Amino acid sequence: MTKAANVFRSVFGGEPDGVWGAPGRVNLIGEHTDYNDGLVLPFALAERTEAALKLRADGLIRMCSAVVPNDILGIPTKELAPGWPAGWGSYIAGVPWALEIDVGFDVAIDSLVPVGAGLSSSAALICAVGLGLNDVLDLGHSRRELARRTRRTENEYVGAPTGGMDQIASLLGTEGHALLYDVQADTTEQIPFDPSAAGLKVLVVDTTVRHGHADGEYAERRADCEMAARQLGVQTLRDVAYADLDSALDHLENERLVKRARHVVTENQRVLDTTAALAADDWVAAGELLTAAHASIRDDFEASCTELDVAVAMLLESGSLGARMTGGGFGGAAIALVPADRTDEAAHTVRAVFADNGFAPPNIFSVVPSAGATRIE
Ligand code: GLA
Repeated sequence: MTKAANVFRSVFGGEPDGVWGAPGRVNLIGEHTDYNDGLVLPFALAERTEAALKLRADGLIRMCSAVVPNDILGIPTKELAPGWPAGWGSYIAGVPWALEIDVGFDVAIDSLVPVGAGLSSSAALICAVGLGLNDVLDLGHSRRELARRTRRTENEYVGAPTGGMDQIASLLGTEGHALLYDVQADTTEQIPFDPSAAGLKVLVVDTTVRHGHADGEYAERRADCEMAARQLGVQTLRDVAYADLDSALDHLENERLVKRARHVVTENQRVLDTTAALAADDWVAAGELLTAAHASIRDDFEASCTELDVAVAMLLESGSLGARMTGGGFGGAAIALVPADRTDEAAHTVRAVFADNGFAPPNIFSVVPSAGATRIE
């Protein structure tokens, strides 16, 4: 029995039509590349958001969440409009909008994905509701189509200019794999990814520093990338070949754009190199690529923060093969590939150094590549 179903019963009464769960994700590598038509390599988590859902005949959408008790929202489907209601409710209201359906429902949410940690709690919420409505109404959308539409929920309804990786990972992830997503080609490939077989764990350090993607810096970085592409006369930065990078950078107007473009083009190459390293079972090389990716996003893309940099440095110092921030940045979580017998020591070191620096205590846990969204009950 899921907590979402229990919350459903106690708030709305009666039984839900079903319960659907969609995972958060860790992006192994390929950061701030998706909205540049680039390459990403995320994997789905075991941590998921659950939605207990039941259709209503009267055109009303009611929603509640175990995460924000006492906040029960109701909105007639006729009033659905981007941005309404503000806050967490828009991630739900924007789903029927993006599916272009006029149907009421009650939904109770429970989330085990830490919110705002860079682990895609928002996509998990949207995808759980999206898959639920797709199933219960027999809409017949493929997972790829659901990913496209749920991305519209986040971009156009919520107003967060994110790049599509998160929904793809949440809906298409499979156990024991990372997902190579080529945005320009619109193709995905399941890449075997089993750190435990190599005696490793993926450790997550959630700094608890919080970001918001609908505001500020994420959108600024995106605008920088678009400006760099314009100045280079290409559609997106994906069209700049790694081999041509140095000559291309000469055509950019200022140093800031040089740095942004250099990050994106080198990061696409690192995704390919990481995929090759995993295929060769070369975890040392994969770790080095993660660490190089962190330096690039810190120094060139300037999307890290002090807590993330300290976490990465301490994870490396305590024996990790590689470490980097993951997700949108400006806070959130770092990940590391850590030998399984050194995870306690690594966590201890990070906690101690955070305390010494007066940072908030981090949440530290390990994650495993898990299945994508599914019906649970
Ligand atoms: C956020 C967005 C993603 C992606 C990452 C950065 O998580 O939702 O689409 O752009 O940031 O890689």
